[in-house]
Amino acid sequence: SEQGQLSGKKVLVTAGGTVERIDPVRFLTNDSSGKMGYAIAETARDMGAEVTLIAGKATAPVPRGVKVVSIESAHDMMKAVLERLADADVVIKAAAVADYRPAEQARQKIKKKSEEMTLTLVKNPDILQTIGSMKTTQFVVGFAAETERIDEYAMDKLQRKNCDLLVANDVTQEGAGFGTDTNVVRIYDKNGLVQALPVMTKQGVARELLNLVAERIGRGEGA
Ligand code: C5P
Repeated sequence: SEQGQLSGKKVLVTAGGTVERIDPVRFLTNDSSGKMGYAIAETARDMGAEVTLIAGKATAPVPRGVKVVSIESAHDMMKAVLERLADADVVIKAAAVADYRPAEQARQKIKKKSEEMTLTLVKNPDILQTIGSMKTTQFVVGFAAETERIDEYAMDKLQRKNCDLLVANDVTQEGAGFGTDTNVVRIYDKNGLVQALPVMTKQGVARELLNLVAERIGRGEGA
């Protein structure tokens, strides 16, 4: 049945935004609400999967019936994901991971002094790319938020990060992207566009995506 399509499968989902500390009371983050990733975690649970959610900063209520691991930084998210990678059948990276973090994290609150101050940032590890290069049998799904040249950037990302599916959303479109309850996505595999979905609730998008995942892992894809 559709309900049990993912029964016995271990699904690892990342959601929310990462928090990159500047000092004990300040941080850099982004507008991620966590809603898309949470909807995926809930839907996978409803389809019978054993779900672990690696959750960053989010405004949406945390789903029930899934194991939640709360983290702050991209570095912590990377560690949490890698610790559970070998055990996962499916990995879905819906989190908005910061590309950069402060080069140094001050132990004490930074004091106000000069007229100008410079914050130096360094690149964070790319978790999805790391998973893509390490994966054995895991089916890996990446996300991309774009504002232009969606097809081109999506296919480039899918190849570079070695994903099985990539879900791209045009965040300039009405009803898509951060904070909203709906999304407008295009789903790609290594051969190109698989599905262009109309405006849907994030639950609806999660259902369509997980149907594709279930169908494909059923055919033995992922390895
Ligand atoms: O390259 P970009 O950040 O747009 O890639 C988006 C995808 O990569 C998302 O699935 C996101 O969770 C993942 N990502 C990651 N680690 C990063 C940056 C992005 O896993 N440092």
